[in-house]
Amino acid sequence: MGLKRTTFSVFAALTALLALVVILFGAYVRLSDAGLGCPDWPGCYGRLSVPSTPDAIDRANRAFPERPVETAKAWKEMVHRYLAGALGVAILLLALSAWRSRGRLPAGLPGLLVALVIFQGLLGMWTVTLRVMPVVVTAHLAGGLTTFALLWWLALRQSDFPGSRPVPALMRLRPWVWGGLALVGIQILLGGWTSSNYAALACTEFPTCYGGRWWPPTDFGEAFVVQRNPGIDYEFGVLDSAARTAIHLTHRLGALVVLLSVGALSLVILRRAQTGSERGMGIAVAAALCLQLGLGIANIHGHLPLAVAVAHNGGAALLLVTLVSLIHLLTPDRRTNCHRRCGDVEELVMIHNSGGGLRLLLISVGVLAVAAGIWLGVSRFDPGAGTSPPVAAMRAGTPLPQPKILSPFTLTDQDAQPFVLEDLKGHWTFVSIGFTACGYICPTNMATYRAIDREIGADGTEQTVNFLFISVDPERDNPEQLGQYVRRFDPRFLGATGSHDRLQPLVRELGLMYERSENAGDATDYMVDHSASILLLDPQARLVAVFSWPHDSAAMAADFAVLRDHYY
Ligand code: HEM
Repeated sequence: MGLKRTTFSVFAALTALLALVVILFGAYVRLSDAGLGCPDWPGCYGRLSVPSTPDAIDRANRAFPERPVETAKAWKEMVHRYLAGALGVAILLLALSAWRSRGRLPAGLPGLLVALVIFQGLLGMWTVTLRVMPVVVTAHLAGGLTTFALLWWLALRQSDFPGSRPVPALMRLRPWVWGGLALVGIQILLGGWTSSNYAALACTEFPTCYGGRWWPPTDFGEAFVVQRNPGIDYEFGVLDSAARTAIHLTHRLGALVVLLSVGALSLVILRRAQTGSERGMGIAVAAALCLQLGLGIANIHGHLPLAVAVAHNGGAALLLVTLVSLIHLLTPDRRTNCHRRCGDVEELVMIHNSGGGLRLLLISVGVLAVAAGIWLGVSRFDPGAGTSPPVAAMRAGTPLPQPKILSPFTLTDQDAQPFVLEDLKGHWTFVSIGFTACGYICPTNMATYRAIDREIGADGTEQTVNFLFISVDPERDNPEQLGQYVRRFDPRFLGATGSHDRLQPLVRELGLMYERSENAGDATDYMVDHSASILLLDPQARLVAVFSWPHDSAAMAADFAVLRDHYY
């Protein structure tokens, strides 16, 4: 027989709320840089739970040397997977009960949801295996929000809300509401792209972007490249500042379009509304829009506080769901359309009388779910996680939301001695990659090193700052040649290189890339394309900031002082 229609509706609504919790928790995992907390899938370091004993951690570290266990991050990732698993089971139960109802309940949508949740599982796997590739992360976010919206739609279609047909003047707005929904969908994709390319901090002011400029240099050509070389580690982003700025500004423009279109729509609804439900829907859409815009702006002003960034995902879900509810309101089905099809008086009475209870339940559980998701995300695991880096005080660099711990590595230095992660500890270190035959970027970066060194020396404080040049051309740059190269700029500068299987994981972890380009097949006469950014590591050898090309040594030295004072 299966579930009664109203019970099915409440179950679908509760499942939608679980989906919202999964979305918010997933956002928290991503935004606290724990998306790669478990380097494998579906288990974590090959287990069903996080390795916690010293023995288990040791085994895990040996199995995944490129990503040593960070227990807090691994737990965040696993809790997200457990919650997503529970959501999958709930959707399966919905589909089974619809299927067993022999046509009384709709089976098509629950079936589609089962397929969607399986696809979400695959995207979750690819998020890990493709190292938070932006297109996968964005699709995963969009899939989560679509699941939520469809579950909500399912719940509404089987509920007794609103209980009466809207006036024709409102019904005519239906295509416009669909249009608004499409624009919000595009804006959500742009938001996901902004987040997954770490472009949130590309603009640090509102309404201007940075330095009082409305439209600083942008690179749209690079900003929306969907597919890049396989094997890149996208954690902390791979784009330079101009491309990130382009992404960020596009998301802002998208917000303006949504504000104008959905804002106008809600005003028209309010003018044409006749019943409390209709007015309520108009107000709900306007309120969700204002909330979401406010959260977006708060993200900029607060430099991406974790709670606000997570809540911005909740705001997107809320806006989506208010528009879905509006479409439901404007789309009479055979029950609200009773004068045409149904002769079931009992059901008709119920439709008119019993919508309020369900509505109240959904609203209060919704508010609770949003609050619970944010609380669970922000306070439960990592009370200090909301501390923002000093973005506003930076002149040239982008600080990471949280310092990134690097995995152990072994290279060879300019004296042919082993060079390991530990050697970077105890000093601040500026790092760049390149090759000694490089004609422009590398010598310019080395000259920038010299200028930064002078600037830092000139501020009168005693510093031990290292400047490291990593050659990604080990075939031609042996230690001797590397030594001659770096010492030419300053005898204290460091050089290191190693085989590609040692260089690649490190370079990826630093968010950089390189590959042979011109004459790639020639054994001696070829070029190497490589990232031009300079990175800053703190005395714990953690990556704290990225300086995109072109470099301004005075601004970088000033940023260094800000970061040093912030972290130490
Ligand atoms: C209707 C309007 C908006 C919608 C639907 C929307 C939606 C989204 C979504 C879904 C994300 C992805 C969040 C994540 O993956 O964690 C996002 C990110 C972002 N949004 Fe919006 N947004 C809107 C307006 C704005 C506005 C007005 C601003 C600022 C002026 C803004 C600033 C940002 C920033 C900085 C991020 C990146 C946050 C991060 O890295 O997580 N948004 N937005």
